[in-house]
Amino acid sequence: MTEKTIHKQLTNICAEAIIKAFNEYQAKFKVITQRAKMRFENQDWHGMKADSDERLDLYKKVVDQIVVEISRLLNNGINDKEIWMNIKGTYSGLCSKIDIWELAETFFNSVTRRIFATVGVDPQIEFVDTCTRTEIFQISALPYRTYTGNLSTQSLIEIILRDYEHQTAYENIQRDAELVSEKIDDHLKSSGYSPCIDRAEMLTSVHYRGKGAYLIGRIFSGSDFFPLVLALLNTPGGIVVDAVILSENEVSILFSFTRSYFHVDVKRPNELVSFLKSIMPRKRIAELYISIGYNKHGKSELYCDLLHYLSRSDKKFELAEGERGMVMEVFTMRDYGLVFKVIKDHFAYPKHTTRDAVMAKYDLVFKHDRAGRLVDAQEFEHLKFNRNRFSDTLLDSLKQNAAQSVIINDDNVIVKHAYLERRVTPLNIYLRNVDDAEALTAVVDYGNAIKDLAASNIFPGDLLLKNFGVTRHGRIVFYDYDELCLLSVCNFRVMPQSRSYDDELSAEPWFGVGENDVFPEELRKFIGLQGMLREIFLDHHGDLFDVRFWHQIQSRISGGETIDIFPYEQSKRLVHDRIG
Ligand SMILES: Nc1ncnc2c1ncn2[C@@H]1O[C@H](COP(=O)(O)OP(=O)(O)OP(=O)(O)O)[C@@H](O)[C@H]1O
Ligand SMILES: [Mg+2]
Repeated sequence: MTEKTIHKQLTNICAEAIIKAFNEYQAKFKVITQRAKMRFENQDWHGMKADSDERLDLYKKVVDQIVVEISRLLNNGINDKEIWMNIKGTYSGLCSKIDIWELAETFFNSVTRRIFATVGVDPQIEFVDTCTRTEIFQISALPYRTYTGNLSTQSLIEIILRDYEHQTAYENIQRDAELVSEKIDDHLKSSGYSPCIDRAEMLTSVHYRGKGAYLIGRIFSGSDFFPLVLALLNTPGGIVVDAVILSENEVSILFSFTRSYFHVDVKRPNELVSFLKSIMPRKRIAELYISIGYNKHGKSELYCDLLHYLSRSDKKFELAEGERGMVMEVFTMRDYGLVFKVIKDHFAYPKHTTRDAVMAKYDLVFKHDRAGRLVDAQEFEHLKFNRNRFSDTLLDSLKQNAAQSVIINDDNVIVKHAYLERRVTPLNIYLRNVDDAEALTAVVDYGNAIKDLAASNIFPGDLLLKNFGVTRHGRIVFYDYDELCLLSVCNFRVMPQSRSYDDELSAEPWFGVGENDVFPEELRKFIGLQGMLREIFLDHHGDLFDVRFWHQIQSRISGGETIDIFPYEQSKRLVHDRIG
């Protein structure tokens, strides 16, 4: 055999090994995802959480394994770029035969980026430009069922509900169909749609997350359409429709970047993403992939989207608005809704954390139920930008504070490690710029955010306004993770009574304070609100300053309860209509 033939054979073996690893990843992903139905039916919320953890760990595991295998196969040739260019060529041929090529391409990139620690992107050994190609995805097969509208709304909803079979029966399908149909008919009337439904299209796959199951579709009326989401819960009496969602904003909140990923079993995620994009046109393709658990591919889309933005605009990266962090250096571009967060080299007093500990906190958030209140962060390595895209102030600051995370040379800025997040408006800034009514709503939701986090077993650590942000839907979310911890490890204590006048005057606590001790009474000091806003906050959320609130939540969690947090307004819950 000639050397050329051996080379060719090796190339084929490697390309096939990588596609095989990808297929294995897909198969395992599917098995875990398919369990969601059974978890929902059995009300096995702990099982659902375990599945979610397993699925989040899967990608790295499979990539680790294939990298070891390829290293063995290529031996000394592992870093030979020419070999990899050939492997890419062969792999590309294999990809073109499968209908989830975009995911397979991302998988290949994960492998080569791991081996080469590529700075920027290298089109010779990586697939690039995914986003321009996935933007034009068409829905070719039918991931949805169509229902023609020559029925009453109630009958239509009843038929739809019956088409989704679960082992558990509906508690009362007619009752729920009637309640849902009233909401839909009201919506048709009040939103100026034609009064009748022409047809409904419902995704055949159910979206499962936490304790919820969501039937997702769209309703066509005249020349328009709007989303239809039926949120199901499995209650002791059977399955009920807990809410019906009919607006883009509300579906967008359901699919928010502050929530954990759905488990939804689909053959071709790209078709699902196209469908979802039709009802949430303002969401990035990247975010939609991420929301259904393809977060690695979502990252490819995000990066590609960013490069395209940079090529079309001449805006520069600047320091993010708001108070500077002691742990993170944060930058953004004014009209691009993402922030980059890099870990600083040193942390000023009183921070006594480490780079590893900070990264562990971001990882905790990645795996934890984000409860609609924690901003999702995608971790990136070795990003490369033109130096002239950075403002001078930002360059100075990065040089001074983040030399371990960012290398600046004559032409380029290489960001060795960063978290990319959706930009929100820091709450301290928001409150300064809005009218009283908006500020009031935000302040009440600030308390709700702390409570939702508590219900999901998270204590934010640093409750200052500057660490919370406001989304475009006006929801309050948290983004500062270095002091965040599990609520279950906190020791909530009542302040001991001072023994003497000297004790009271003492600058240092005169009693022993453990590392995990939290004094809820003291939290008042951190709620940086004054005047009416402070009063409103205390009115709605005074319980946060009472140790009993925290102990109660802790005992519910330690008792094994998965506390309900709904991804829609309480007022939307049909339970009110059922009682009324
Ligand atoms: N997702 C985001 N959207 C908009 N601004 C953000 C976001 N994340 C961070 N910022 C801005 O960057 C600042 C610092 O970020 P962050 O609070 O995460 O860093 P930190 O160093 O951990 O802060 P601290 O010193 O409070 O611990 C924030 O005060 C805010 O102004
Ligand atoms: Mg902060």
